[in-house]
Amino acid sequence: MSERVFVFAGSFDPLHRGHDDLIRRGLGLCDRMVLGVLVNENKKPLFGVEERLEMLREVYSDESRVEVRTFSGLLVDFARECGASAVLRGLRSGTDLDYELPMSLMNRRMSPRLETVFLLPSPDVVDLSSSLVKEIYRLGGSVDGAVPEPVRRRLQARFQDDGGTGS
Ligand code: PNS
Repeated sequence: MSERVFVFAGSFDPLHRGHDDLIRRGLGLCDRMVLGVLVNENKKPLFGVEERLEMLREVYSDESRVEVRTFSGLLVDFARECGASAVLRGLRSGTDLDYELPMSLMNRRMSPRLETVFLLPSPDVVDLSSSLVKEIYRLGGSVDGAVPEPVRRRLQARFQDDGGTGS
């Protein structure tokens, strides 16, 4: 039987515990997962692509079934390159569904055999988003418990490098 590959794509700027929860749940449903870091020239991220790749690789260094790659262009093309049968997405709320549904249906239009698998996060991480993590970081708050340790360390180092401005 051929292996079942899922793709989980995003900006991961930065990875937080909500992503991690979904990734670990998703691993229970597939043989291998490719984490696709979207390279978007139009956005000014907090962390550069290389730094985001490093963080993801560090967090999943003990998980041989996780591969970390970058991509640009269409998600369906990336999923095809990865040999994926499904794209994994998380639903925290109805607002997420409103955002996700048209995207998933459009992806299906472009790639009818590629499924989208929606998973619900654990209630203790349902409030997390990368933008909130960044806002808390910029205002000097604590993100302990919201992000994996390698991400927390880098946020802290970045804050110290910025001289506490968080910019
Ligand atoms: O970090 P996010 O915002 O959750 O990631 C969104 C992502 C990367 C899944 C979405 O922006 C995407 O699929 N981008 C690739 C471009 C694409 O395929 N666009 C057409 C969607 S119908």
